[in-house]
Amino acid sequence: MIEITGLGDMRNWSREVRSGGERVGLVATMGFLHEGHLRLVDRALAEADRTVLSIFVNRLQFGPGEDLESYPRDIAHDRAAAERRQVECLFVPDAAAMYPTDPVVRLIAGSLSEHLCGPSRPGHFDGVLTVVAKLFNIVEPDIALFGRKDFQQAQIVKRMASDLNFPTEVVIAPTVRDVDSVALSSRNAYLSEADREVARRIPLALDAAHRLFLTGKTCVDDLVAEVRNTFGEHAGAALDYVEMVDPSTLAPIRMASSDSIVGLAARVGGTRLIDNVVVGDGVSGDDFVHG
Ligand code: PAF
Repeated sequence: MIEITGLGDMRNWSREVRSGGERVGLVATMGFLHEGHLRLVDRALAEADRTVLSIFVNRLQFGPGEDLESYPRDIAHDRAAAERRQVECLFVPDAAAMYPTDPVVRLIAGSLSEHLCGPSRPGHFDGVLTVVAKLFNIVEPDIALFGRKDFQQAQIVKRMASDLNFPTEVVIAPTVRDVDSVALSSRNAYLSEADREVARRIPLALDAAHRLFLTGKTCVDDLVAEVRNTFGEHAGAALDYVEMVDPSTLAPIRMASSDSIVGLAARVGGTRLIDNVVVGDGVSGDDFVHG
């Protein structure tokens, strides 16, 4: 595995690979790698000839009071995990190279950030888009993989690539869940044992909407109420939102169809967790870590 920190070096590596007729796949991460990231690497390895895994904690996507400073970091662990998974190129740009000054020009997610996580995290998706556009311009990948756990992010990036004519194909891969069905996330590291108990209610609640949908109920108010009831009330935890949206416009819907997304965010202890399922599939439509 080669490790690159220079932005020009990264572009040169990619151009050289691509000039030989090989396809480059990109998995963009903020590090603290887990099996969810590594399944994206597997997919990139299957769909491209060479895989770049980037690690960069992007300050632009953190709001005031969010966890930028405490965001979990472990580059030695990440390096070993990437190497074991046969990543060819680890790209670890430093912050000064990525943002020599505060970027004046940024991308805007527009109406795609009006629902789900957008209202609670103003500017978050604009920060994500800005760094992903920079990574696409530096790495020039043929294909980039994003996990469906962050469905809104993945959909917004896909739309950016199409609206702005990036030549990169954006692929959204299934959420990867732990054996207890909790979606893998670097932020799960913050959870205490008691928090984890509460976190387990999240996939149960989303799956309850799926099961109700299978009985023929399509009214979103009923499906959302089912999610809220199944999640229940827990000391130190609260739902931020439960919403059902159209999978491409991310606009709220009133009647569900099988491809509708039911998503939620919950504060569990001090940690904000997000998750979603396609209502026609439930959690069984996702990937699981083998126990
Ligand atoms: O999902 C993430 O880890 C980040 O939002 C991303 C896509 C790497 C951009 O910083």
